[in-house]
Amino acid sequence: MNTPVLQASSIALGYRQPEGLRRILENFDLRLQPGEIVTLLGPSGVGKSSLLRVLAGLQAPLEGEVRLFGEALAGPHPRVAVAFQDPSLLPWLNLEHNVAFGLDFKHQPKRGAAERDALVDQAIAAVGLQQARGRYPAELSGGMAQRTALARCLAREPHVLLLDEPFGALDEVTRADMQQLLLRIVRERQTAAVLITHDIDEALLLSERILLLGGTPAHALGEWHVDLPQPREELVDELGQLRIDILKTLRRASRSHDSHTRSAGDLPCATTATTPFTRAATSSS
Ligand SMILES: Nc1ncnc2c1ncn2[C@@H]1O[C@H](COP(=O)(O)OP(=O)(O)OP(=O)(O)O)[C@@H](O)[C@H]1O
Ligand SMILES: [Mg+2]
Repeated sequence: MNTPVLQASSIALGYRQPEGLRRILENFDLRLQPGEIVTLLGPSGVGKSSLLRVLAGLQAPLEGEVRLFGEALAGPHPRVAVAFQDPSLLPWLNLEHNVAFGLDFKHQPKRGAAERDALVDQAIAAVGLQQARGRYPAELSGGMAQRTALARCLAREPHVLLLDEPFGALDEVTRADMQQLLLRIVRERQTAAVLITHDIDEALLLSERILLLGGTPAHALGEWHVDLPQPREELVDELGQLRIDILKTLRRASRSHDSHTRSAGDLPCATTATTPFTRAATSSS
């Protein structure tokens, strides 16, 4: 099997609280291949964003390790780009400078000014914001801010894209356009992507694999392989059964997460035993 671009092995993560260590997630494994989109689904608060920070090298796991191209990840990597739930734009820089920000930092690949400008131009054009390049974050809508954050990722020519609900604030049409853009980037550049979303349809349309996190501490409750060609918008029948399966598992996970959060508050948690399963949808053609 090919060396995965990103590999996470036996990841456990948690936070120290006054009451003690609160374990959020454990036994998480992931092998991400170039050109593959893996989606993480799970109830709110289950630990998806925390896990993404670990995969980005921004937060150390309690246990386990993350490898990028076979090498242990010890911190942020220039070819791993992250778009957070909050677009995190710098308010004193205009859109163009926000996209360019950090491209000349010393851990980035050496690039001349002309090359940096070209990358910024291409990234802004890719998300369709040429007309707004001089605007400041306070002058952008939520959707424009999210597209700016995506452009900032693209300008880094990433091998791995880690996207935390990147399309959450977009209207239907822009969202569909941005989904297509993501698919195009992944296909053309063979970028690997981990996408967090609460939208099962988005997961089904975009990903090769869907991992559902649940339980306390969280772990993979299910994995679905979506072995269907793109575009998938018309493949309603093939995706339908998978959607029902995922929704059922997500509902169970959400109810158990809610009741646990209500009863346990922030106290250290016991493991809830659940059997992981895998399903696959394949093209009938
Ligand atoms: N820096 C932190 N210190 C302490 N606890 C934290 C920290 N960050 C997150 N948590 C806690 O860890 C748990 C998981 O949070 P996280 O943001 O990773 O969840 P999530 O799955 O991304 O949720 P959502 O779908 O709402 O974005 C939550 O209970 C949260 O309160
Ligand atoms: Mg989150």
